[in-house]
Amino acid sequence: SAAEKGGYDHFMLKEIAEQPRAVADTLLGRVDANGMLTLDEVRIAASVLREVDKVVVVGCGTAFHAAMVAKYAVEHWTGLPCETELASEFRYRDPILDGRTLVIAISQSGETMDTLMALRHAREQGAKVLAICNTNGSTIPRESDAVLYTHAGPEVAVASTKAFLTQLVACYLVALYLGQVRGSARGDEVRDAVGELAGISGAVQEVLATMEPVRELARSLADRNTVLFLGRHVGYPVALEGALKLKELAYMHAEGFAAGELKHGPIALVEDGTPVVVVVPPAREQAVLHGKVVSNIQEVRARGARTVVIAEEGDEEVVPYADHLVRVPRTPTLLQPLVTTVPLQVFACELATARGNEVDQPRNLAKSVTVE
Ligand code: G6P
Repeated sequence: SAAEKGGYDHFMLKEIAEQPRAVADTLLGRVDANGMLTLDEVRIAASVLREVDKVVVVGCGTAFHAAMVAKYAVEHWTGLPCETELASEFRYRDPILDGRTLVIAISQSGETMDTLMALRHAREQGAKVLAICNTNGSTIPRESDAVLYTHAGPEVAVASTKAFLTQLVACYLVALYLGQVRGSARGDEVRDAVGELAGISGAVQEVLATMEPVRELARSLADRNTVLFLGRHVGYPVALEGALKLKELAYMHAEGFAAGELKHGPIALVEDGTPVVVVVPPAREQAVLHGKVVSNIQEVRARGARTVVIAEEGDEEVVPYADHLVRVPRTPTLLQPLVTTVPLQVFACELATARGNEVDQPRNLAKSVTVE
């Protein structure tokens, strides 16, 4: 009903708007007076966490994209090797797991069969499993060694939005916590990162307040057949997520690519007028990477692409090559997906609406896939 949707036309719009609160809620009660983490729910002994020698992160769909981001965070703050795997592929390989492997299983619903089977397989090999989940008491957390709940609140729209952002926050928290417990992240690093995370709620709010041009752009692209998304580093999973949202909601052909792969194939897809959305890493922290992505924007534009550039405030280098420029607040590189994902959600939602699609209940999809 309209009341349930809080005055919005769709649950998805409501859930997009709830993101500032959702990311703040996921931090709540998890930071002590000194700005360090207290994840009491992670009931895996510190002695066990200190012995971990490998981390594997699994999930499906949007949760898999959160898992891809987690890899960067885990490697950065723990120095541990970290693999990311689609839950549906995991147990059909011969994954190398033992008592020193920590498997992180990400699932909004906690009921996705592929993810459940992956975690069962991991536990059979003696690995410890930590769930990141949004649904209290669901099957995945019940079968895991521990759970860190995301506090997004109920997500009704099939396409995941606020659950994704809170999964990202939870992944950063777990990576930082592992770093804190193992001593691989310095105290001031943890405090700084936690401080940055605390500022994300406001940053997401800022992004949401500037979305009208993105909606306008979406409407103008309603008759296109293809949209391409490029990103690097943690911007790569964001590109994949942007493309997934467009497939799910707008039923358009959309693909996300690692920008570095452009010349190895995807650039052949660019025709006159092809919309190409590019997620640009922060210039200050990632100068080399930034320069390469700016070159990629020039390359696709030289072949006729209509470029939609998502870049942080103050990044002037991208301006000459952006047909459409979407500004996001400055964040550290690792945290940037928390702000760059938001315009892509709004973009997909508006495109779906412009194409007359059912936003909350896309055809052929289910909120939670409980079969393999
Ligand atoms: C379905 C949903 C997606 C979701 C995926 C994983 O495909 O449509 O939005 O990302 O399942 O769901 P989970 O509940 O495990 O996060």
